Amino acid sequence: MKNKIYIYRAFERFWHWTQAFLIFILMLTGFEIHGTFKFFGFQNAVSYHKTAAYAFIVLIVFAIFWHLTTGEWRQYLPTTEHIRAQMNYYIFGIFRNEPHPTKKTVLTKLNPLQKLVYLGLKVLVIPIMVLSGLMYMFYRYPQQNKIETLNLESLEPVALLHTIGAFMLVAFVIAHVYLITTGSTVTSNLKAMIIGYEDVEQDGEESAEETKLNQQTK
Ligand code: HEM
Repeated sequence: MKNKIYIYRAFERFWHWTQAFLIFILMLTGFEIHGTFKFFGFQNAVSYHKTAAYAFIVLIVFAIFWHLTTGEWRQYLPTTEHIRAQMNYYIFGIFRNEPHPTKKTVLTKLNPLQKLVYLGLKVLVIPIMVLSGLMYMFYRYPQQNKIETLNLESLEPVALLHTIGAFMLVAFVIAHVYLITTGSTVTSNLKAMIIGYEDVEQDGEESAEETKLNQQTK
Protein backbone atom coordinates (compact mmCIF):
# COMPACT_ATOMS: atom_id res chain seq x y z
CA MET A 1 0.00 0.00 0.00
CA LYS A 2 1.29 3.47 -0.90
CA ASN A 3 1.00 6.16 1.71
CA LYS A 4 1.65 9.89 1.28
CA ILE A 5 3.87 10.96 4.14
CA TYR A 6 5.41 14.27 5.09
CA ILE A 7 9.19 13.80 5.09
CA TYR A 8 10.82 17.23 4.71
CA ARG A 9 9.52 20.24 6.61
CA ALA A 10 9.41 23.78 5.18
CA PHE A 11 12.59 25.07 6.84
CA GLU A 12 14.43 21.89 5.91
CA ARG A 13 13.52 22.32 2.24
CA PHE A 14 14.47 26.01 2.31
CA TRP A 15 17.79 25.13 4.00
CA HIS A 16 18.51 22.29 1.56
CA TRP A 17 17.95 24.31 -1.61
CA THR A 18 19.67 27.46 -0.32
CA GLN A 19 22.63 25.33 0.71
CA ALA A 20 22.69 23.61 -2.68
CA PHE A 21 22.65 26.99 -4.45
CA LEU A 22 25.40 28.45 -2.23
CA ILE A 23 27.62 25.37 -2.54
CA PHE A 24 27.16 25.52 -6.32
CA ILE A 25 28.25 29.19 -6.36
CA LEU A 26 31.14 28.44 -3.97
CA MET A 27 32.30 25.60 -6.22
CA LEU A 28 32.02 27.63 -9.42
CA THR A 29 33.86 30.65 -7.99
CA GLY A 30 36.27 28.52 -5.87
CA PHE A 31 37.52 26.52 -8.84
CA GLU A 32 37.89 29.71 -10.86
CA ILE A 33 40.07 31.10 -8.03
CA HIS A 34 41.95 27.79 -8.12
CA GLY A 35 42.64 28.41 -11.82
CA THR A 36 40.60 25.50 -13.21
CA PHE A 37 38.67 27.71 -15.67
CA LYS A 38 37.73 31.33 -16.40
CA PHE A 39 34.11 32.42 -16.04
CA PHE A 40 33.43 35.50 -13.86
CA GLY A 41 37.02 36.82 -13.94
CA PHE A 42 39.36 36.33 -10.96
CA GLN A 43 38.46 39.51 -9.02
CA ASN A 44 34.71 38.90 -9.39
CA ALA A 45 35.13 35.25 -8.48
CA VAL A 46 36.91 36.22 -5.23
CA SER A 47 34.23 38.76 -4.37
CA TYR A 48 31.29 36.38 -5.13
CA HIS A 49 33.06 33.58 -3.23
CA LYS A 50 33.30 35.79 -0.15
CA THR A 51 29.67 36.92 -0.32
CA ALA A 52 28.42 33.34 -0.79
CA ALA A 53 30.69 32.17 2.04
CA TYR A 54 29.19 34.71 4.49
CA ALA A 55 25.65 33.75 3.40
CA PHE A 56 26.59 30.08 3.87
CA ILE A 57 27.83 30.77 7.43
CA VAL A 58 24.57 32.59 8.31
CA LEU A 59 22.57 29.66 6.88
CA ILE A 60 24.67 27.17 8.89
CA VAL A 61 23.91 29.08 12.12
CA PHE A 62 20.15 28.89 11.43
CA ALA A 63 20.41 25.22 10.41
CA ILE A 64 22.26 24.32 13.64
CA PHE A 65 19.56 26.12 15.64
CA TRP A 66 16.81 24.27 13.72
CA HIS A 67 18.46 20.85 14.14
CA LEU A 68 18.91 21.38 17.88
CA THR A 69 15.48 22.84 18.64
CA THR A 70 13.52 20.27 16.59
CA GLY A 71 15.63 17.29 17.70
CA GLU A 72 16.22 16.50 14.00
CA TRP A 73 19.96 16.09 14.74
CA ARG A 74 19.06 12.61 16.01
CA GLN A 75 18.34 11.57 12.41
CA TYR A 76 22.08 11.71 11.76
CA LEU A 77 23.18 9.43 14.61
CA PRO A 78 25.12 6.70 12.80
CA THR A 79 24.10 3.07 12.97
CA THR A 80 25.74 -0.10 11.64
CA GLU A 81 22.33 -1.79 11.33
CA HIS A 82 21.42 -2.57 7.70
CA ILE A 83 24.53 -0.81 6.44
CA ARG A 84 25.75 -3.89 4.55
CA ALA A 85 22.25 -4.46 3.16
CA GLN A 86 22.14 -0.84 1.97
CA MET A 87 25.55 -1.15 0.28
CA ASN A 88 24.54 -4.44 -1.36
CA TYR A 89 21.40 -2.73 -2.59
CA TYR A 90 23.32 0.09 -4.31
CA ILE A 91 25.90 -2.31 -5.82
CA PHE A 92 23.65 -5.23 -6.82
CA GLY A 93 20.00 -5.05 -5.69
CA ILE A 94 19.14 -1.83 -7.49
CA PHE A 95 20.08 -3.43 -10.84
CA ARG A 96 17.91 -6.48 -10.11
CA ASN A 97 14.84 -4.45 -9.17
CA GLU A 98 14.99 -5.65 -5.56
CA PRO A 99 13.06 -3.66 -2.93
CA HIS A 100 14.81 -0.98 -0.85
CA PRO A 101 16.30 -2.65 2.26
CA THR A 102 15.27 0.17 4.60
CA LYS A 103 11.91 1.84 5.02
CA LYS A 104 11.60 5.62 4.99
CA THR A 105 9.44 7.11 7.75
CA VAL A 106 9.13 10.56 9.34
CA LEU A 107 11.36 9.35 12.15
CA THR A 108 13.99 7.70 9.96
CA LYS A 109 14.14 9.67 6.77
CA LEU A 110 17.80 8.75 6.16
CA ASN A 111 19.11 5.28 5.35
CA PRO A 112 22.23 4.08 7.27
CA LEU A 113 24.63 5.13 4.49
CA GLN A 114 23.05 8.59 4.24
CA LYS A 115 23.32 9.00 8.03
CA LEU A 116 27.05 8.26 7.85
CA VAL A 117 27.80 10.44 4.83
CA TYR A 118 25.69 13.42 5.96
CA LEU A 119 27.17 13.25 9.46
CA GLY A 120 30.66 13.27 7.91
CA LEU A 121 29.70 16.34 5.90
CA LYS A 122 28.25 18.13 8.92
CA VAL A 123 30.99 17.42 11.45
CA LEU A 124 34.02 17.16 9.18
CA VAL A 125 33.92 18.47 5.61
CA ILE A 126 31.78 21.60 6.10
CA PRO A 127 33.58 22.69 9.32
CA ILE A 128 36.92 22.17 7.52
CA MET A 129 35.70 24.32 4.60
CA VAL A 130 34.40 27.10 6.88
CA LEU A 131 37.47 27.14 9.15
CA SER A 132 40.06 26.90 6.37
CA GLY A 133 38.05 29.47 4.37
CA LEU A 134 38.03 31.91 7.30
CA MET A 135 41.75 31.33 7.88
CA TYR A 136 42.26 32.02 4.18
CA MET A 137 40.36 35.31 4.61
CA PHE A 138 41.96 36.49 7.82
CA TYR A 139 45.48 35.12 7.73
CA ARG A 140 48.45 37.39 8.36
CA TYR A 141 52.01 36.48 7.65
CA PRO A 142 54.00 37.22 10.82
CA GLN A 143 55.92 40.02 9.21
CA GLN A 144 52.81 41.74 7.83
CA ASN A 145 51.43 44.79 9.70
CA LYS A 146 52.86 43.41 12.95
CA ILE A 147 49.49 41.80 13.67
CA GLU A 148 50.17 38.86 15.93
CA THR A 149 46.80 37.09 15.81
CA LEU A 150 46.39 34.23 13.35
CA ASN A 151 49.98 34.45 12.21
CA LEU A 152 50.71 31.79 9.63
CA GLU A 153 54.12 31.02 8.26
CA SER A 154 52.53 29.92 5.03
CA LEU A 155 49.09 29.80 3.51
CA GLU A 156 49.90 26.57 1.72
CA PRO A 157 48.46 24.04 4.22
CA VAL A 158 45.26 26.11 4.49
CA ALA A 159 44.90 26.26 0.70
CA LEU A 160 45.59 22.53 0.44
CA LEU A 161 43.00 21.65 3.09
CA HIS A 162 40.41 23.97 1.50
CA THR A 163 41.06 22.46 -1.94
CA ILE A 164 40.90 18.83 -0.68
CA GLY A 165 37.57 19.67 1.02
CA ALA A 166 36.33 21.26 -2.22
CA PHE A 167 37.14 18.07 -4.20
CA MET A 168 35.35 15.99 -1.53
CA LEU A 169 32.29 18.20 -1.94
CA VAL A 170 32.41 17.82 -5.73
CA ALA A 171 32.54 14.02 -5.30
CA PHE A 172 29.63 14.22 -2.87
CA VAL A 173 27.50 16.33 -5.21
CA ILE A 174 28.05 13.91 -8.13
CA ALA A 175 27.12 10.87 -5.97
CA HIS A 176 24.21 12.79 -4.43
CA VAL A 177 22.68 13.73 -7.78
CA TYR A 178 22.88 10.09 -8.94
CA LEU A 179 21.41 8.77 -5.68
CA ILE A 180 18.51 11.24 -5.89
CA THR A 181 17.26 9.19 -8.84
CA THR A 182 17.26 5.89 -6.93
CA GLY A 183 14.08 6.43 -4.89
CA SER A 184 10.86 4.49 -5.44
CA THR A 185 10.62 6.32 -8.79
CA VAL A 186 13.32 8.36 -10.58
CA THR A 187 11.84 11.66 -9.38
CA SER A 188 10.24 10.72 -6.03
CA ASN A 189 13.18 11.88 -3.86
CA LEU A 190 13.52 15.15 -5.77
CA LYS A 191 9.77 15.76 -5.54
CA ALA A 192 9.82 15.14 -1.77
CA MET A 193 12.55 17.76 -1.29
CA ILE A 194 10.45 20.25 -3.29
CA ILE A 195 6.94 19.68 -1.91
CA GLY A 196 7.77 17.87 1.35
CA TYR A 197 5.58 14.82 0.68
CA GLU A 198 6.57 11.42 -0.64
CA ASP A 199 4.60 8.33 -1.65
CA VAL A 200 6.10 5.65 0.56
CA GLU A 201 5.40 1.92 0.46
CA GLN A 202 3.73 1.13 3.81
CA ASP A 203 3.99 -2.54 4.67
CA GLY A 204 2.55 -2.50 8.16
CA GLU A 205 1.20 -0.32 10.90
CA GLU A 206 2.94 3.00 11.41
CA SER A 207 3.93 3.60 15.00
CA ALA A 208 1.77 5.84 17.19
CA GLU A 209 4.61 8.37 17.27
CA GLU A 210 4.86 8.40 13.48
CA THR A 211 1.12 8.91 13.09
CA LYS A 212 1.21 11.78 15.59
CA LEU A 213 4.17 13.40 13.84
CA ASN A 214 2.55 12.97 10.45
CA GLN A 215 -0.64 14.63 11.66
CA GLN A 216 1.24 17.44 13.43
CA THR A 217 3.22 18.33 10.35
CA LYS A 218 0.35 18.29 7.87
C1 HEM B 1 32.16 29.42 4.57
C2 HEM B 1 32.80 28.73 3.69
C3 HEM B 1 33.95 29.23 2.85
C4 HEM B 1 34.82 30.29 3.03
C5 HEM B 1 34.85 31.28 4.20
C6 HEM B 1 35.71 30.31 1.90
C7 HEM B 1 36.73 31.22 1.68
C8 HEM B 1 37.67 31.16 0.68
C9 HEM B 1 38.73 32.12 0.44
C10 HEM B 1 38.97 33.39 1.28
C11 HEM B 1 39.46 31.72 -0.64
C12 HEM B 1 40.66 32.42 -1.23
C13 HEM B 1 40.26 33.51 -2.18
C14 HEM B 1 41.47 34.31 -2.60
O1 HEM B 1 42.46 33.70 -3.07
O2 HEM B 1 41.42 35.54 -2.49
C15 HEM B 1 38.86 30.47 -1.09
C16 HEM B 1 39.32 29.72 -2.16
C17 HEM B 1 38.71 28.58 -2.62
N1 HEM B 1 37.51 28.06 -2.18
FE1 HEM B 1 36.47 28.65 -0.57
N2 HEM B 1 35.40 29.26 1.06
C18 HEM B 1 34.33 28.59 1.62
C19 HEM B 1 33.66 27.49 1.10
C20 HEM B 1 34.02 26.84 -0.06
C21 HEM B 1 33.31 25.74 -0.65
C22 HEM B 1 32.02 25.13 -0.07
C23 HEM B 1 34.01 25.38 -1.76
C24 HEM B 1 33.75 24.32 -2.79
C25 HEM B 1 32.98 23.34 -2.72
C26 HEM B 1 35.16 26.23 -1.86
C27 HEM B 1 36.13 26.12 -2.83
C28 HEM B 1 37.24 26.92 -2.93
C29 HEM B 1 38.34 26.68 -3.85
C30 HEM B 1 38.46 25.52 -4.82
C31 HEM B 1 39.26 27.72 -3.65
C32 HEM B 1 40.60 27.91 -4.35
C33 HEM B 1 41.66 27.28 -3.46
C34 HEM B 1 43.07 27.39 -3.98
O3 HEM B 1 43.29 27.19 -5.17
O4 HEM B 1 43.96 27.65 -3.19
N3 HEM B 1 35.14 27.12 -0.82
N4 HEM B 1 37.76 30.17 -0.30
